[in-house]
Amino acid sequence: MPLSSSAQRQAGSALRRVVFDAETLARRVAGLGAEVTAAYPAGDLLLLGLLKGSFIFMADLARAIERPLEVDFMVASSYGRDKQSSGNVRLLYDPSIDLAGKHVVVVEDIIDTGRTLQRLLTLLAAREPASLAVCALLDKRLAPPIPEVRFTGFTCPEAFLVGYGLDYAERYRHLPFIAELA
Ligand code: IMP
Ligand code: MG
Repeated sequence: MPLSSSAQRQAGSALRRVVFDAETLARRVAGLGAEVTAAYPAGDLLLLGLLKGSFIFMADLARAIERPLEVDFMVASSYGRDKQSSGNVRLLYDPSIDLAGKHVVVVEDIIDTGRTLQRLLTLLAAREPASLAVCALLDKRLAPPIPEVRFTGFTCPEAFLVGYGLDYAERYRHLPFIAELA
């Protein structure tokens, strides 16, 4: 999709094309909300967002789930200013909520190499949740499938994507659509 002039202004520069526009995202996130709602008919549900990339997705997804739930976040760092995953995951903030006995759904923006997620899932499983699943908005399908990834928004191109929470060097997170960086 070509970029409108207002999208171009909002981004500042350097976008090649829109990959998922705001309407497409809204429709799919509503669908994911319905899938999550149906998957947990009973029990305590905790949405655990990976910051910062999941902040917009989390806000929309949580409002699309029609059952009681709790929300918390985790901060892990693996990319820095790079476009490549270093595989060196650091936990900068750990959830304050107890996971024991709860259905935990990790909310992730995008799965690239899957290294960040693998490392976090090992860590979270040790806290004895009733179940552990991942809801990822985007999956580049480069990594071997991770069994915990039960909910996926879209399979996406291998390109570097920004917007709707996704950044490049902390820029572009506020864009209401997802675009490919030029
Ligand atoms: P992984 O460990 O390689 O799977 O990297 C996952 C994390 O890297 C994601 O949570 C994002 O924060 C970041 N990331 C991976 N691909 C992209 C991209 O195309 N755009 C922006 N961030 C990305
Ligand atoms: Mg990032």
